[in-house]
Amino acid sequence: MKYNINDIKEKGFLDIEIDENLNIVEEIGRLKKEKNAIILAHYYQEAEIQDIADYIGDSLGLSQEAAKTDADIILFAGVHFMAETAKILSPDKKVILPDLNAGCSLAESCKPKDFKKFVEKHNNHIVISYVNTSAEIKALTDIVCTSTNAVKIIESLPKEQKIIFAPDKNLGNYINGLTGRNMLLWDGACQVHEKFSLEKILQLKKENPEAKIIAHPECENQILIIADFIGSTSALLNYTKSKENNSFIVATESGILHQMRKKSPDKIFIPAPPNDSTCACNDCEYMKLNTMKKLYNCLKYELPEVNVDEKIRERALLPIKRMLELS
Ligand code: 13P
Ligand code: SF4
Repeated sequence: MKYNINDIKEKGFLDIEIDENLNIVEEIGRLKKEKNAIILAHYYQEAEIQDIADYIGDSLGLSQEAAKTDADIILFAGVHFMAETAKILSPDKKVILPDLNAGCSLAESCKPKDFKKFVEKHNNHIVISYVNTSAEIKALTDIVCTSTNAVKIIESLPKEQKIIFAPDKNLGNYINGLTGRNMLLWDGACQVHEKFSLEKILQLKKENPEAKIIAHPECENQILIIADFIGSTSALLNYTKSKENNSFIVATESGILHQMRKKSPDKIFIPAPPNDSTCACNDCEYMKLNTMKKLYNCLKYELPEVNVDEKIRERALLPIKRMLELS
């Protein structure tokens, strides 16, 4: 079937029905080989997408993988800023994203026009930005970081160095506390990590007193102070693998539970609930826009593609390279 190119403009993805008899997993495998394509998936993707990925990781691991792959096509099963980072690192490769609407509330909270003014106002500061930002913000940044390497990168700077940290205020506050710095924080947050319910988590802990509470540093301070362990997505996964402990209350996006259960099938993983619904899990609506059907059409037609203006790309590459060197 021929695709309708207007779908991309109007819907953000190719809306093409797939023959229900098609073995979609096999077909994706065949297309990957035929096109020399690689599928990079974030831990917050649906379980079935994680299971067909060539590499599953957190934001740092995915950038490192995107920088070193020799595939011709990178299909990013994640959100837009991740695909954009892959394109910045590998401009000669085709980077495709199943749904262009897969944005990020954190990246959205930091608009280039406002950020530029902020940086100009504090021009004696070094700018450290979380990878969850647009290419334009990275182009205004000195060093990019992720939650895995943020502390290491900040500690590599002299104590007296003035720092702007953007866009996640929760991660920034957490690092200020750990390092004794007083970084100037941009007022942004992740809509998923900000909505965990303290009350519901404490209730779960009461019902499961043996369970360790583990949390991502994008969570609010009221959640972090009751956590037994705080870390990036991959740090949380590693902690559950290595810990003698048998049960965990997990305060991050629920997609990571799939890998936790795979790696430690005998342990118990309880998703920490959000405060605004009756649902037990906390999902990122952007991450979950990717589906197997969209992914299949994306790989088959090599659309939608993610591109970055060359001038912005050249400028945005420098702080990403600095991050990779320091990691
Ligand atoms: P990490 O995968 O780097 O832990 O970041 C979490 C996140 O919110 C990604 O969007
Ligand atoms: Fe952005 Fe939060 Fe979703 Fe990650 S989980 S993509 S930070 S909105």
